[in-house]
Amino acid sequence: MKPTIAPYPQTRFRRARQSPAIRGLVRENTLTTDDLIWPVFVRDGEGVEEHVPSMPGVVRRSVDLIAKAAVEAQALGIPAICIFPYTDPGLKTEDCAEAWNPDNLSNRAIRAIKAAAPDIAVMTDVALDPYNINGHDGYVVDGEIVNDQTVEALVKMTLAQAESGADIIGPSDMMDGRIGAMRQSLESAGHHNVMILSYAAKYASAFYGPFRDAVGASGALTGDKKTYQMDPANSDEALRLIERDLTEGADMVMIKPGMPYLDICRRVKDTFGAPTYAYQVSGEYAMVQAAAQNGWIDGEKVMLESLLAFKRAGCDGILTYFAPAVAKLLQGQ
Ligand code: PBG
Repeated sequence: MKPTIAPYPQTRFRRARQSPAIRGLVRENTLTTDDLIWPVFVRDGEGVEEHVPSMPGVVRRSVDLIAKAAVEAQALGIPAICIFPYTDPGLKTEDCAEAWNPDNLSNRAIRAIKAAAPDIAVMTDVALDPYNINGHDGYVVDGEIVNDQTVEALVKMTLAQAESGADIIGPSDMMDGRIGAMRQSLESAGHHNVMILSYAAKYASAFYGPFRDAVGASGALTGDKKTYQMDPANSDEALRLIERDLTEGADMVMIKPGMPYLDICRRVKDTFGAPTYAYQVSGEYAMVQAAAQNGWIDGEKVMLESLLAFKRAGCDGILTYFAPAVAKLLQGQ
C-alpha cells in the first residue's frame, strides 16, 4: 500500500535534505566499486600504449600492459575487466578464422591477465566484427548477414575463450539462438562455471562510433547493423529478447547503450529480477569527456551522477570506461 503524504507543513521534504548526514541516511542508491566492469582495448606489440583520439583518456595497450592494468584494477577492487581486441587489418578475413585462434590477441590477453591478476574476473566479447573484413558482427553472404552460420563461428570463438581462462563470455553479436548454442557447447566441454553475460538488448546505436575507432572497425564497416541490432524505438521487444536469452542459459543480461536506455533497464529488472547490467558506451563516455575538457561541465561530478543513475534504474553493475577513475575516487585516492 502506498503511504499517504500529509500536507504541508506536516510534510516538508526539505527536512530530509538538510545536511549530509540526513541525506546519507535517506539515500536510496549507492555506487560502489563492486558495480564496475572495465572495458579495455588490447593491441599487438610490447610496452605499447596508444591513445584513442575519440575517447580521451582511453588507450589501447599491448598484452603485457593489459596485464599490468589488470593488476592495478584488481588492487582498486574492480571485480571485472572486459577485453576488446584491436586486430591487425591483415588478419581480417571473410571467414574470420582469427576469431577462434587460441593465440589471437584477445586469448593471449585473457591468459596474461589470469596469470598476473587471478582475482579479477575476465570478460570477453563474442562477435565477428574485429576479425571480419567488412566490419560486421556476422558472416556476410550475398549482402546478407547470415544467422546460423555465424552462430557456429561464435561457438568456436566462445570455446577458445573459455579454454584460455575467460570467466564471463559476452556475446555482443545479436544473432538468434547463440546463447543456447554457446551454453550447450560450454557444458559439453566441461566449462560448467563459465558465465554468459548476454548483450541481450543491444540497440543499433550511433553511440558506438568511438568504439569502432578504438577497435579499428570504423573504416571496415559497410552499411549498418540494423538487421541484427535493435530498433531504438522498441521497448517490449527488449523484454522478449531478455526472456529468450535467460531461457537459453544466460546468467546475466545487458542493456546497451546505457544512459539513453534507462527505461529499459528498469523494465528488465522489474520483470525478471536477473543480474542486470548496462553498458555506458563509447559515445556516452566521449560526450562527457569532450564537455569536461571544454570546461562546460564538471567531468568528475557528471561521471558519478551518470553511473549512479544506472543503480537507480535497477542495474547491478555498469560496463564503463570510467571504471578506474571512479574506483580511485570512491577510494578517496
Ligand atoms: C561489437 C561491439 C560494439 C560495442 C561492443 N561490442 C560495437 C558495435 O556493435 O558496433 C560497442 C561498445 C562501445 O561503444 O563502447 N560487437
